[in-house]
Amino acid sequence: MKRIIITGSNGLLGQKLIKLLVKKNTYNIYGISKDKNCLNDKRGYTFINLDITDPNALSELIEKINPCFIIHTAAMTNVDTCELHKKECDIINVDAVRTLVESCKKNDIHLIHLSTDFIFDGKKGFYKEDDIPNPVNYYGLSKLRSERIIIDSNIKHTIIRTILVYGLTDDNKNNIVLWIKNSIENKQQINLVTDQLRMPTLVDDLAQACIYALKNNIEGTYNVSSDQLISIYELAVEVAKAFDLDKSFINPIPTSSLDQPAKRPPITGFDLTRSINELKLPSFSFSERLQVFKNQLESLD
Ligand SMILES: NC(=O)c1ccc[n+]([C@@H]2O[C@H](COP(=O)([O-])OP(=O)(O)OC[C@H]3O[C@@H](n4cnc5c(N)ncnc54)[C@H](OP(=O)(O)O)[C@@H]3O)[C@@H](O)[C@H]2O)c1
Repeated sequence: MKRIIITGSNGLLGQKLIKLLVKKNTYNIYGISKDKNCLNDKRGYTFINLDITDPNALSELIEKINPCFIIHTAAMTNVDTCELHKKECDIINVDAVRTLVESCKKNDIHLIHLSTDFIFDGKKGFYKEDDIPNPVNYYGLSKLRSERIIIDSNIKHTIIRTILVYGLTDDNKNNIVLWIKNSIENKQQINLVTDQLRMPTLVDDLAQACIYALKNNIEGTYNVSSDQLISIYELAVEVAKAFDLDKSFINPIPTSSLDQPAKRPPITGFDLTRSINELKLPSFSFSERLQVFKNQLESLD
């Protein structure tokens, strides 16, 4: 059986990848995370506690497992934390990728790397894979630098860029949709920006795209998200509608009224043509996928 390493197996995407790949029963799966394993079902894969910022430990582990693929989801993903802790952000988001790339080069491993819409400045929206990046914050810059290390290395690679991911995890990790739902249910007023537009992504769709690239040895850079460009405020209204909640708790605000350490790109969103054609990405609106997420939550009750 082919061996696959998934870094960040405790994360939103990492957990979903482990679950979907274990079901397929065609791979030997190794999940790596820094904290203890937070998946409920520990069967069908090997979990390894490892800090990917330790280059020796990481390369030794890769040598030992000798995988065909590494899906690299681990990252410092909090945009404001990256802005405030640039050195730590570099070590996780850039230096660890350099270590992975070296190992992939030495052992002929295909690297599937996760990246972000935040590599763009958000002035135009509907970004194509080949548009010129121009990050407005440190997180975006760190992810762009990691992309460039991979591309310049000439290793077999797939870069999958995504936007504002939400979905279910075993440890009830917070995400924007759950935060909005829980806040309104707790009768809290919430302020959401009207001038930042995104194409939110259900984690299941993102995981399926990664698995398609893996199964079919697809190389290159791909955009993966829903196909509905929506403001964060409208997103909240859609969540209220889907879960039958009172939308009067949602207040529209401009970004200028927030005092966040990191700037945000105003309008992102992707042109999805390449992924629809080559990764067979199904084209779904955010509103449609929200219903899937709602059903997943209800099946837990
Ligand atoms: N979520 C989004 O909205 C979004 C949007 C665009 C792009 N992306 C990209 O998609 C990828 C996956 O995102 P996600 O939302 O699944 O991330 P996430 O939920 O924040 O998970 C990241 C995981 O990385 C692990 N990790 C962090 N530092 C580590 C270290 N030093 N050593 C080992 N493991 C470490 C953490 O493991 P522990 O919990 O064990 O510490 C964490 O569970 C990331 O590359 C991100 O940049 C995400």
